[in-house]
Amino acid sequence: MGSADSTLADLERRAAARAAARAGGQDRLSGHIVCDGLVRIFRTEGVEVVALQGLDLVVDRGELLAVVGASGSGKSTMLNILSGLDEPTAGMARVAGYELLGMSARKRLEYRRRIVGFVWQQTARNLLPYLTARENVELPMRLAGSRKRDRAMELLDMVGVTGRADARPDQMSGGEQQRCAVAVALANDPEVLFADEPTGELDEATADEVFGALRTVNAELGVTVVVVTHDMNVAGHVRRAVAIRDGKTASEVRRSARIGADGTEQHVTEEYAVLDRAGRLQLPAAFVEALSLRDRVRLNLEPDHVEVRPGSSDRSVEDQA
Ligand SMILES: Nc1ncnc2c1ncn2[C@@H]1O[C@H](COP(=O)(O)OP(=O)(O)OP(=O)(O)O)[C@@H](O)[C@H]1O
Ligand SMILES: [Mg+2]
Repeated sequence: MGSADSTLADLERRAAARAAARAGGQDRLSGHIVCDGLVRIFRTEGVEVVALQGLDLVVDRGELLAVVGASGSGKSTMLNILSGLDEPTAGMARVAGYELLGMSARKRLEYRRRIVGFVWQQTARNLLPYLTARENVELPMRLAGSRKRDRAMELLDMVGVTGRADARPDQMSGGEQQRCAVAVALANDPEVLFADEPTGELDEATADEVFGALRTVNAELGVTVVVVTHDMNVAGHVRRAVAIRDGKTASEVRRSARIGADGTEQHVTEEYAVLDRAGRLQLPAAFVEALSLRDRVRLNLEPDHVEVRPGSSDRSVEDQA
């Protein structure tokens, strides 16, 4: 009996360790930004849209993460929840220790004022038209009662628009306006910066400058940055990009640099499918199409990998019957 008990305890311990390892280790839920099984359902006139279907995401403090995905995949829904503008239907979303589900109105206000900065796609939504660049950056500081001398100019310098400090938005280019918007979003020294398609209305060269500004503030201020983009060019410049498909994180691309045998720096790109805590993963659409996979597949465990094969079709099941 005693030995049976200890065997059971042993099994449970091993199962727990395996579950933790499968989920990415015990500290998986200790990131600066953590979404776990995040769900957002919109109900309009009796129709339900499940915009997020159990989304998992962990972002470390100080990381610069790109999020890519087709239109309607849930990118903005996720950013709106993370920035405290919208509330999830279920699941966990935690940023800088703030639990975003069920947060009181007062706490939400504090969260939005102190913890997050936001840059919108529409340049006109980020800046007040009748204020200069410098006044736009000073405004959030004044509202928070914490105006620090020179801070506005330091931020404008960091994003590379010092020369336009006295210009109004309509006197600046689209790229200058968005870089100025980055400075505005950082005025009150937030811990995280969210940007939803900040380069969506810009040409490629200008988009690169805006992205350069995001990289600079990430490196200089250590602010955690999550940027949603359609631009694969931009996504190709970050260490980690995650792809959202149908309201879930589906895959992830990691880039790292290593010194090759000939002494030169080589960039290594690795693509991963995301495995959730229940062991689910999403096959890339191209793989599904290439083998005409449908309804069910066969899985075989090999010593160091898992094989996925087309399952028998319904017809052949009927034939056998
Ligand atoms: N307020 C809302 N009411 C109803 N449905 C919504 C609402 N907001 C988003 N949706 C739906 O949720 C899904 C995800 O939308 P979301 O805006 O997050 O996509 P997205 O990835 O940001 O797309 P895009 O690249 O076009 O900006 C879509 O089907 C959308 O129609
Ligand atoms: Mg969007």
